[in-house]
Parts: sequence; C-alpha cells; structure tokens
Amino acid sequence: MSIEQLAETARAMVAPGKGIIAIDESASTCQKRFDGVGIASTEESRRAYRELLLTAPKVDDYLSGAILFDETIRQSTKDGVPFAKYMADHGMIPGIKVDKGTVPLAGFPGELVTDGLDGLRARLQEYYKLGARFAKWRAVINIGEDIPSGTCIESNSHALARYAALCQEQGIVPMVEPEVLMDGDHDIETCYEVTEVTLRSLFDALYQHNVALEGTILKASMVVPGKDCPDQASVEEVAEATLMCLKSTVPAILPGIVFLSGGQSDEAATAHLDAMNRMGPNPWPLSFSYGRAMQQAALKLWSQDMAGNWAKAQATVYERAKANGLAALGQWQR
Ligand code: 13P
Repeated sequence: MSIEQLAETARAMVAPGKGIIAIDESASTCQKRFDGVGIASTEESRRAYRELLLTAPKVDDYLSGAILFDETIRQSTKDGVPFAKYMADHGMIPGIKVDKGTVPLAGFPGELVTDGLDGLRARLQEYYKLGARFAKWRAVINIGEDIPSGTCIESNSHALARYAALCQEQGIVPMVEPEVLMDGDHDIETCYEVTEVTLRSLFDALYQHNVALEGTILKASMVVPGKDCPDQASVEEVAEATLMCLKSTVPAILPGIVFLSGGQSDEAATAHLDAMNRMGPNPWPLSFSYGRAMQQAALKLWSQDMAGNWAKAQATVYERAKANGLAALGQWQR
C-alpha cells in the first residue's frame, strides 16, 4: 500500500463540508447509553440502532465515513446488506475502533493507558478484508491533582505510535485520538497546557515510529475548561485557544483534524467547530468525528417509540450531520 493511497483516503475523510459519525461504542458503553434511555442493550437492538444511524436518508451529503465497533462491522441491515458495503455503496468510508479500551496505568493512581496492541496486526488484516479503510485508537488523559504525569503521556503516545505504524503497514489510515478529558474543575489554561504537552509527545512518537503524517488523521479534543470549573469560556475563547494549541503542535502536512464532542452539548460542539473555521484559513481542514453530539437527539427519539419514531430519529441524524458539515466550512447559521 502506497503512502499516496493512504493520503487519498485521509483527504476523503475530511472532504470539504463532510465529517465522521462515531458509532464505535463498545458493548458496555452502548449499554450505558441505552440504560440512560431505558432500552435493553442486545446484539439486535444495537444492530437496529446502528442501522438507523447509518441509513438516515441523505446523511452521506455530510458524512465522509463512520467509525464502527468490532460487532458492528460484522452486522448488516435488516435486508442483509453488510454495513460496510452499505456505506461504501453510499460513498462513506468504513472505519473501525481497534483499541481495547483503557486500563489503570500501574504505579500511577488515577491515570489510564489504552490496551490493544497484542494481535493488532492480524486484526487489522481482517478489518481491511471486512472493508475498513481507517482505524481509531483512543488514549485518555485525565487532568487532576498532579496529573497527568509525563509517564502517562509518554506511555499513551508510544501505544498510539505503534498502532498507527501497524495501521499504515496494513493500508489503513490511523485516526489517532489523544482525548484530554473535560472532567474536573480545572481552568481552560490548564487544559491548554495539558493538550499542548500531549500533542507534542504524540507527534514526537509518531516521528520516532516512522508514521507518515500524510496518511494520518488527528482526532483531537478541544481546549475547554473542566466541566466543574466555575469560569466557563465563550465560544470564541474555546475556538481561539484550540486553534492556537493545534497550530503550535501539529505539523501542517497532516491532511486533517477532526474533533470529538467529549460531552459537549450538540449546539456547543457545532458552534465551536464553526467558530474555528470562521477564524481560518487554517493549515488543515477542521471537521468533526462526533459520537454523542451526533447521536443523542436521535437516541432519545428512538427510545420513545422505536417503530413510530424511526423516520423522525433519522431526520435528526441528518440535521446534526448537516449542521456539523456546514460548521466544517464555517457556514453554520445558529
Ligand atoms: P464523543 O464525540 O461522544 O466524545 O465520541 C467520539 C469518540 O469517538 C470518542 O472516542
């Protein structure tokens, strides 16, 4: 697989006015989300829900792809079309979550490291055959008293770099996701500093591991104050801080950056992305790879009446995709 082919996929992921829907919740995270709205989480209910999201009419106008979970990439529409094939037929690139979630980092209370490198080469080979052309790995950085430690940041960067190199070896674009969590009462400056050091460490590790940045997408968290910080920031403050942090750490050769929503409201996630694009031109396309900020309205509607609200729920997925697609161009109207 040539770097040019990886670069072409990466560019398509951030095509103008398009972004990605993350529907890669593990069975346990899905259970949490379903519990929240009173739906039983079964293989079939998860399949039906993912079908609702992926087959929303015309959603492909604004979605370049979707991140699937291991179970989901093996599932099909009720008519028997594998989801990956349905997506490819509709011009959407199938992606796959390949990390195995976080575990406590031994020796560092309160800190996490992401599992999933063992056997990853073989899993990537299988996912490629199943249609995946990009793969996501999420590292989690907690902010708190005396954390994150340098060891935590470096361990996570090392794992991200090893996974990214394996992806490219197998013809799959890595979507590297170092998520700095919003949990806590820290201020926006603290989030800025932690995000900056995390990104510096990540791009250093990618360089050390011969990862071609032309065939890599960054999935970033925005620079925001902690959820419990009394001093919340305006849309412009978040957009400015996030842009400055990215510009000072992320090489311009990267084909694009997509953001996670991380617990922001639907409207805040869209407004922040829109503001950053209005402040452009920027060195890279900036788009979305939202999970909750794409799904929460649809999930609520669907939970209220699964058959009766199917079309209505799909319409909200379309509306969220459209709003975020316009925000990726800096053309969203509140
Ligand atoms: P959220 O947008 O809900 O943060 O999910 C995106 C994601 O893929 C987190 O790994």
